[in-house]
Amino acid sequence: MEKLKIKMKNISKIFYTGEMETHALKDISFDIYEGDYISISGPSGCGKSTLLSLLGLLAPPSSGQYLIENEDVSNLTLTEAATIRNRKIGFVFQQFNLIDELSVVDNVALPLKYQTPPVPLNEARDRAIKCLNRVDLGHRVDHKPNQLSGGQQQRVAIARALIADPAILLVDEPTGNLDSKNGDVVMDMLEQLNKDGTTICMVTHDARYADMAHRQLHLLDGEIVEQKQNVMEAV
Ligand SMILES: Nc1ncnc2c1ncn2[C@@H]1O[C@H](COP(=O)(O)OP(=O)(O)O)[C@@H](O)[C@H]1O
Ligand SMILES: [Mg+2]
Repeated sequence: MEKLKIKMKNISKIFYTGEMETHALKDISFDIYEGDYISISGPSGCGKSTLLSLLGLLAPPSSGQYLIENEDVSNLTLTEAATIRNRKIGFVFQQFNLIDELSVVDNVALPLKYQTPPVPLNEARDRAIKCLNRVDLGHRVDHKPNQLSGGQQQRVAIARALIADPAILLVDEPTGNLDSKNGDVVMDMLEQLNKDGTTICMVTHDARYADMAHRQLHLLDGEIVEQKQNVMEAV
């Protein structure tokens, strides 16, 4: 049987601003298994980013239960959340968030600096090069990010997200800053990584890209209104 990576059960998120309550997520339940590729889509304001920030332990749920690899992470302190985030979550954002002063390989190795105990420099570099090979950028390790195309920069960001061997890769609008050609390259790369075993949960408003995932969650007003599974994957 496939290994359960993520379990969200009856998750709600309410934002309180002044007099107002915003019910950003209402009673969300779903599971993510090892090797899954899930997309989350829906109109602006439906709760996509909120859901991704909960999944990534950037914010706590207001109620409900959240498990990562069977560990209950529903009610963590900020420090506990940061520790688990570093070990188990890889993030890819619309903005690549690379550091222009560092080489590509140093950008990718950076998260290992914040691990305890710290990873020795040689090992960090070797691991970073392995991740860059996975995104077909083994020939660009000593370049600076601004010497690369947008699509290549996003692939560097993906390599960085993979460096700590996360339980899941969380991806928010990965093609939002790319032209369609570079966007396609990045999406093909994510598909290849998933085929090689990486578990992916991606937010996108692009229907064509959402359909590349095995399973599509559609959000509306903070609720899952539809779940679709690609026919081929359901066999
Ligand atoms: N920090 C916050 N404080 C108050 N309201 C918020 C906050 N973040 C998001 N919201 C509200 O929660 C709802 C969902 O937002 P969001 O998750 O950003 O939607 P999406 O990413 O689908 O566009 C919206 O009504 C938004 O205004
Ligand atoms: Mg958003």
